[in-house]
Amino acid sequence: MRFIKNKNFNEHEIKSKLKKPFKICKIIKYYKQLPSTQTTVKKLAEKNFEEGFIIVAEKQTNGYGRTKKTWSSNVGGLWFSMLLKPLIHPDEVSKLTLVLGIALKRTLKKYKVDSKIKWPNDTFVNGRKIAGILVEMSAKQDRINWIVVGIGININNKLPKKFADVFISLKEVLGKEVDRTEFFAELLAKIEEIYNNFCNTGFEMFVEEYNRNIAYKNENIIIDDGYNNIVSGVNLGIDEDGRLIVNTKIGLQKIISGTLMKT
Ligand code: BTN
Repeated sequence: MRFIKNKNFNEHEIKSKLKKPFKICKIIKYYKQLPSTQTTVKKLAEKNFEEGFIIVAEKQTNGYGRTKKTWSSNVGGLWFSMLLKPLIHPDEVSKLTLVLGIALKRTLKKYKVDSKIKWPNDTFVNGRKIAGILVEMSAKQDRINWIVVGIGININNKLPKKFADVFISLKEVLGKEVDRTEFFAELLAKIEEIYNNFCNTGFEMFVEEYNRNIAYKNENIIIDDGYNNIVSGVNLGIDEDGRLIVNTKIGLQKIISGTLMKT
């Protein structure tokens, strides 16, 4: 009985832990196994399902992350995707991606875990990745049709040995198993709060908190934009538009998207 504390990890238990109705979580469905919660929710989005539909799976056989990288999703982790339809301009979505990183940071703080956000939104603890966020969207001109946010958090799951230096689980950090239902309810509450603030008030109020928690601040980094363009320099944090400011040999550069690596 390895996951005894988590035997009640299912949609009813999760719903019952939410203290009030959530915009981001109107319906939640739990599956023992899926290829990917992300592809499942994207199909629902295409069928015009409403905002607030969440799918969570005990295990994914084909989980993926940014740049379509395989995402290891064994039992014991927290793998879910949610359907959102914010009334914001498609250009604002990259900022929404950043504030979701803050929701994870705040949740981990509740567990007394000090995490850092590796721009744009990887969550790191002790220099290893504990969680990742994937945001995919469909938009037409100035309007968002849907956004699907997929979040993967290593909680009690065993990580493949070959990733031992790269990834870390919450169980490893705390030295004990964590109740995933509680963690999930805590995270959903943080996302709900941040999502509402972001949609109503904008990004500005989050910039200072993001920069306070950004990984590799004032350190040498490189950014790969995925199109063979590499920018290297010192990480100065984000600006009010969520762009990463890098002090390079040819001056300050502001990066909209890419993969950051420490040099
Ligand atoms: C990343 O760091 O590249 C993002 C990882 C996102 C993984 C989650 S797990 C739930 C959802 N389903 C998927 O297939 N991917 C996301």
